[in-house]
Amino acid sequence: MQRPIYLDCHATTPLDPRVLEAMLPYFTEHFGNPASTTHAYGWAAEAAVKQSREVLAEAIAASPEEIVFTSGATEANNLAIKGVAEAYFSRGRHLITVQTEHSAVLDPCCYLQSLGFEVTFLPVQSDGLINLKQLEQAFRPDTILVSVMAANNEIGVLQPLAEIGAICRSRGVLFHTDAAQAIAKIPLSVEAMQIDLMSLTAHKVYGPKGIGALYVRRRQPRVQLAAQLHGGGQERGMRSGTLYPPQIVGFAKAVELGLAELETETQRQIQLRDRLWQRLSQLPGVYLNGHPTQRLPGNLNISVADVDGQALLLGLQPIIAVSSGSACSAAKIEPSHVLSALGRSEKLAFASIRFGIGRFNTEAEIDRAGKGAIATIQSLRL
Ligand SMILES: Cc1ncc(COP(=O)(O)O)c(C=O)c1O
Repeated sequence: MQRPIYLDCHATTPLDPRVLEAMLPYFTEHFGNPASTTHAYGWAAEAAVKQSREVLAEAIAASPEEIVFTSGATEANNLAIKGVAEAYFSRGRHLITVQTEHSAVLDPCCYLQSLGFEVTFLPVQSDGLINLKQLEQAFRPDTILVSVMAANNEIGVLQPLAEIGAICRSRGVLFHTDAAQAIAKIPLSVEAMQIDLMSLTAHKVYGPKGIGALYVRRRQPRVQLAAQLHGGGQERGMRSGTLYPPQIVGFAKAVELGLAELETETQRQIQLRDRLWQRLSQLPGVYLNGHPTQRLPGNLNISVADVDGQALLLGLQPIIAVSSGSACSAAKIEPSHVLSALGRSEKLAFASIRFGIGRFNTEAEIDRAGKGAIATIQSLRL
């Protein structure tokens, strides 16, 4: 049986074979612990980690000592938000974030609320962008952190990081961004964008799962962070635990390849995305979710009127692997909190499709996917 066409690249991406090749020697021949300083096995592993750290730092215009390896963006977000809250609580107990953030940002914020912190969850406009005036108005004398994601995982919308960074810096408030979906897909610079903390992950950019990093600014300002994992004191005490060289090498290789191919891939994916949208938008009652151009190149998110959301996903399953934003929580299916924040009705939020086009998708696949989606929608409307 033929597998459905994979168009769910915001959930995860396939490992690039070039990444796998770079990783393999670190599972077998160079298996050492990078913290073993007394022999060649440790030195080889440490050299690979050092080089990877340099590649990742350069990718975001940081310096290598500012990269803290984690198990992914969930852990990086938790470390940034809880770590800052714990380190700065004597200065203030107010945080600002956005309603459309990933749960790995929203849930740590809710946890902090349970400890007595106060959190402002900014709304978004109907295109998914925050209103900078509203951000400015949300600051209080006790605000210690602003957390706004770089690229949304459902609608792909790119928030104006440089403007947000400038606003935060002018008020002396730390700025964290969850760049899980953005790294090596759009240009990122912690200097130009005045970002103090940035969460990264490898598996959305053709790298391995289970590895990510938190960028933590060391100068102007030097960010204080309370560790959330205690132990051997790795990562300058900010994140204990033996480093995992194969994953780290794979992460760096994935980012390096992504940046090398960024321009050509951006153009190619925009072309594929627009081609798919042209087809789908010929049907009546199909709506684009999120800003039409200020979004990730490979992202297309639509809502479909007059169909049942679950029947739609079920009908698409044999043809294309996609997802909708709806999530199960407490055994109840909830409409996507992102689409709800855009003002979509519950019915349209349920009947949504998130297409995540990636490096390995071809024009022929996009055409087959478009045809299949149209046929499914039409049959459900009969
Ligand atoms: C925006 C965003 N943040 C955080 C995460 C979590 O990343 P990880 O799977 O590396 O923990 C994801 C992935 O699902 C994401 O899309």
